[in-house]
Parts: sequence; C-alpha cells; structure tokens
Amino acid sequence: MLNIGVLVSGGGTNLQALIDAVDDGRITNGKIVTVLSNREGAYALKRAEQAGIPTKILVSKQYADRADFERDVVAHMKANGVELIVMAGFMCIMGETLLSAYQNKIINVHPSLIPSFCGDGYYGLHVHEAALARGVKVTGATVHFVNEITDGGPIILQKSVDILDSDTPEILQKRVMEEAEWVILPKAVDLICNNKIKIIDNIVREA
Ligand code: GAR
Repeated sequence: MLNIGVLVSGGGTNLQALIDAVDDGRITNGKIVTVLSNREGAYALKRAEQAGIPTKILVSKQYADRADFERDVVAHMKANGVELIVMAGFMCIMGETLLSAYQNKIINVHPSLIPSFCGDGYYGLHVHEAALARGVKVTGATVHFVNEITDGGPIILQKSVDILDSDTPEILQKRVMEEAEWVILPKAVDLICNNKIKIIDNIVREA
C-alpha cells in the first residue's frame, strides 16, 4: 500500500476525483494519508476533512525563502510516511529541496496537452484562455512526473478534449476537468501504486 500525500491550493476537484477513485476501487494499493494546502481557506481542505483525511496548511506566501517552505513540506510528508506526492491543482512551482527528497515520486496534473500551453505563467484559467486565443481545435490534460523544468517532466497520461465554438475559458476549463483531468489523474495514481510504469531515458514505459 503506497502512502499518498496530496498538495492543493484551491477548489480540490482533482483531490475529490482521487478520493472517489480510492473509495470505489479505481485506485488500488494506495491510500491518501495527508492533504497539504499552501493557502488558508482552500475548499480542497473541506473535501479532505469530509473524507476523514488529515490536513495541513503551510502558507507559502509567509515564507521569505521558497527552500524553507519546501523543507517544511518535505518534513510534513516524511513525518506522515508519504511515498508519492500528487500535485492536484497546486499553484506553486517547487524546486530542488522538494524534488531531491522525492525524485520521480511527484506527479502533477496540467490542464493542456503538454508541450502546448505549459510552463511558467500557464496555470488554471490562463491555460484555457491561451488555448482559445490561439484557436486550437483540440486541447486536453496531461499527468506527468515533476522535475526541475516547469511542466517538463516525463508524461504519464494524456487525454484530448475537443474545443467548441461556444467555449469560454470557464466552460472549457470545466469540460477539460470532467472529460480529462478527473479521468487520467486517478488512472496515473493507480498505475504508480501498482508498479505498472517506469521511466527510461525520460520516457514513461510499461513496467
Ligand atoms: C485544474 O484544472 C488543474 O489542472 C490546474 O488547476 C485546476 C485546479 O482545480 N492546475 C494547474 O494549472 C497547475 N499548473 P482543482 O483545485 O479543482 O483540482
């Protein structure tokens, strides 16, 4: 059984997708042992509490030095026996301190088909605004391992979503979540919990 720690910043619908997938057996051999938010009042914390999962708040903005924030995140995760960290709508870019403590043990969900609309500045609604402004006809979501390049780690799963003429950024964001993120994030976690994938030369392959 792999102990999972989830990092959140906001609404927590991806966290909810993970909670539901553990409950209904789409994720096996994994247990969410802690949910950590970098913001007070994130609704994701309520979702965790409702599911009986212990929560922790470390307000990133209160740290002058990002490495100190990361050190506290690592300490919390280690204290809880966390073996896999899932960034589920977590809006902080993490650096060496966290990455070296959890090498190839951190995954992130991003609301586009990487390498489109990703990297610094592309998060949340901005991603969908950029996709609509560019006029792409297909977008989607990606789950990837986290490395030192923002949104640049090995890709685990992707799922496409068609763009419609009637889409606004908000409508598109919701559809990408429903049709892609909430599907592939639990799937990726299940693959990892069951040792089904490995990374070879930066590419994710079946184990
Ligand atoms: C999701 O769309 C997630 O992919 C995105 O923020 C939203 C969070 O929603 N994450 C990023 O943009 C990270 N670069 P949630 O809090 O309801 O899961």
